[in-house]
Amino acid sequence: MTTEPEYIEPEGMGRAGWHKEGEGEGQARSYYRRLATPWETFIKSEGLPVFRGVGIKDTRTLPRADWPRVGGKGTYIQVTGTENKTGMFVVEIPAKGALHPQRQMYEERYVVMEGRGSVEVWKNNDSVRTAFEYGPWSLFSIPMNANFRIINSASTPALMIAVNTAPRTINSYDNMDFVFNNEFNFEDRWGGNLEDYWDNNEKVVPQPVRGRAMVTSNFIPDIANSYLPLDNNRGPGFRWVAPDQVGNRMIQGWVAEYPSGRYAKAHYHASGAVLVGLKGNGYSITWPREEGGVTPWKDGKGDLVKFQEYGPGGLISAAPGPANWFHQHFAVSKGPFRVFNYTGTMPGNPESGRLRELDDAEEGAMVKQHADISDGGNAIPYHMEDPHVREMFEESLRQVGGQTTMPPEVYTASGANIEVMTD
Ligand SMILES: [Fe+2]
Repeated sequence: MTTEPEYIEPEGMGRAGWHKEGEGEGQARSYYRRLATPWETFIKSEGLPVFRGVGIKDTRTLPRADWPRVGGKGTYIQVTGTENKTGMFVVEIPAKGALHPQRQMYEERYVVMEGRGSVEVWKNNDSVRTAFEYGPWSLFSIPMNANFRIINSASTPALMIAVNTAPRTINSYDNMDFVFNNEFNFEDRWGGNLEDYWDNNEKVVPQPVRGRAMVTSNFIPDIANSYLPLDNNRGPGFRWVAPDQVGNRMIQGWVAEYPSGRYAKAHYHASGAVLVGLKGNGYSITWPREEGGVTPWKDGKGDLVKFQEYGPGGLISAAPGPANWFHQHFAVSKGPFRVFNYTGTMPGNPESGRLRELDDAEEGAMVKQHADISDGGNAIPYHMEDPHVREMFEESLRQVGGQTTMPPEVYTASGANIEVMTD
């Protein structure tokens, strides 16, 4: 046997997870210590406030601090269930000012909440600048590692909410020079003739994997008022489209709208989706599927249900997790309630669809997200939901002088799958 080396007492963790020679043959134990990930260390180094929680009514009310790396002011948002997966922030661009030129080896997307101006985008080692003009509720994404500069031409500050895959990139490479000072051009996402790259091209086409509505436009001038096809997947009158932009693999998501006085069927999945309010007001509820079950209030577990009211600029982590959480969205405003799941991969779109659905997407298999639990899916049909859900919704409508517009037959087993409703 070789000689036992000098024993070094580990700092801050009691003792090592092995025995010294002569300490016997009982099993040695080891214990976890939580070390910061490269992403967690990075956002700390940025010196901005960080909002943590399940949701917030309006992100424009969050405190913002000077942001030396980016210019302007900012605040980070790390809602429950997105940690080390998705970066989110609100950035303020000063009146008649601009942010610093930036580039980064991750996908990033912006929704304009306030302001008017332009964005310049250009390749590495290329002096030709492309540009587009934005206004309130414009949606755009920056092609991976393109240079960009956001300019505010208004006489008041511009406010944008953004989402990115920075945690995944930074945790993978852990080298800021690689992430922020890299000259690689992704010609496959951002190449060829770039003259019409930023033109608005809101043509609706079917997603290749799931066949739902997809819009392929790298820039959408007003995502709060753009056309959304009717698909009724989350409830009668429900409209939905998935924007597919700049060759993104991860940051895709979808935009959805509920008519006034209607609400979604509850459904469950793992964490990751974050809904941002675009138009109208409403609320979402979310609860852990295993502990809360299908009817949490009826079963005396109503305290497990989290509630978040929000409107334009507000957000909620739809399924905070860990594991599957049921969630459900409600339109309370006089007009429709439009939300944007702006974080995630988009099951069904050409690039992220082939990355994400390999396990579930056997040819011809039903998409469980759009089927009721009574049909082997993930959604609770209205006639099986906790009666308190409907009572609570109708009460919140009464408080603002509104009333439900839910077709009464959806609360019966035979009317559970009404395909198309007229308003
Ligand atoms: Fe969902």
